[in-house]
Amino acid sequence: MTKLKIASIPGDGIGTEVVPAAIDVLKTVSDIHGGLSFEFTEFPYSCEYYLEHGSMMPEDGLERLKEFDAIFLGAVGNAKLVPDHVSLWGLLIKLRREFEQVINVRPAKIFSGVRSPLVNPKDFDLIVVRENSEGEYSSVGGRIYQGEEEIAIQNAIFSRRGTERVMRYAFELAAKRNRHVTSATKSNGIVHSMPFWDEVFKDVSRDYPEIQTDSQHIDALAAFFVTNPSRFDVIVASNLFGDVLTDIGAAVMGSIGIAPAANINVNGKYPSMFEPVHGSAPDIIGKGIANPIGQIWTAKMMLDHFGEEEIGSVLLEVVESVTHDGILTPDIGGKHSTTEVTTEIITRLKARA
Ligand code: NAD
Ligand code: IPM
Ligand code: MN
Repeated sequence: MTKLKIASIPGDGIGTEVVPAAIDVLKTVSDIHGGLSFEFTEFPYSCEYYLEHGSMMPEDGLERLKEFDAIFLGAVGNAKLVPDHVSLWGLLIKLRREFEQVINVRPAKIFSGVRSPLVNPKDFDLIVVRENSEGEYSSVGGRIYQGEEEIAIQNAIFSRRGTERVMRYAFELAAKRNRHVTSATKSNGIVHSMPFWDEVFKDVSRDYPEIQTDSQHIDALAAFFVTNPSRFDVIVASNLFGDVLTDIGAAVMGSIGIAPAANINVNGKYPSMFEPVHGSAPDIIGKGIANPIGQIWTAKMMLDHFGEEEIGSVLLEVVESVTHDGILTPDIGGKHSTTEVTTEIITRLKARA
């Protein structure tokens, strides 16, 4: 019997709506699986927590979370209560950094029954491997002077270790898929970091002669995500490029509400964290219409992470059968609620037992 201790952090906004839904689904997964059980412990870290305690999590928050096998997070951010930079540096980015979740894996594919905005989308199935700890998201920089003289400085940091690490991850992943890695670059010499990125990409690719490669400038690549996403298998991207690309990937799937993600700790020292691509969706909070599929597909990525790929595939098949049959939340053209979609998924999962 595999017993997984999961820390759940619903966080803010629709995180509090989709995390409980996905946990109900995971509980059903363990009921029908037999050999797998979850012990969930919920942590209330959020912007509301901040208002009460003056910080996004307590001082021993990291110590407590460290004991878990994984973290299952909804979304962080409620700018009406706490400025985003405070809530994000205080919780989301803090967890990614302190727990060395240096890789962010974000798949996008044609999802049965979900209408892509592309007129005639060929079947696509791609994964963006996003560097998750440095690059354009470095903490080096700040604001100096004031008024007319004010200057904002952001230093992007690309270490050889971090760049190689994300590229190796992408190549290893491609080896299990269609053996193609695309590097998202901007190497026309304007941005200093990118010729370096290209060099490392070339060096790493020599160790994987069986994998085909290409490099695309990020602007052209973003356009290809819209005009021809089926040409891609695995795309390796820096932190900011990967962030933008994965919202485009989500959009061409049909909605950011279905896009999953995994923040992976590769050295085994700390828990990995599973949180969808979307945020707290302030415009739909409390309406009961948040799409739970992003969070549920993210749960499937957590199952995969623990070697439970078989039941993970069953879960995704069941979710796709539900969308295929038109049981959809409004963001993907339906009229169903978060609860209706979740209940249907649970009912069909039980029928598979
Ligand atoms: P967002 O992803 O929250 O919302 C963008 C649009 O997508 C909105 O129209 C929203 O209604 C819709 N949407 C998102 N998820 C949906 C779902 N599951 N079902 C249906 N529709 C959905 O992005 P934003 O508006 O840029 O950010 C809002 C807040 O969330 C900000 O505070 C931001 O910093 C934060 N944020 C957090 C994370 C995270 O915690 N991982 C990710 C992105 C944004
Ligand atoms: C994401 C989000 C975060 C990011 C924000 C909220 C800091 O957009 O997870 O994609 O940029 O990584
Ligand atoms: Mn993003």
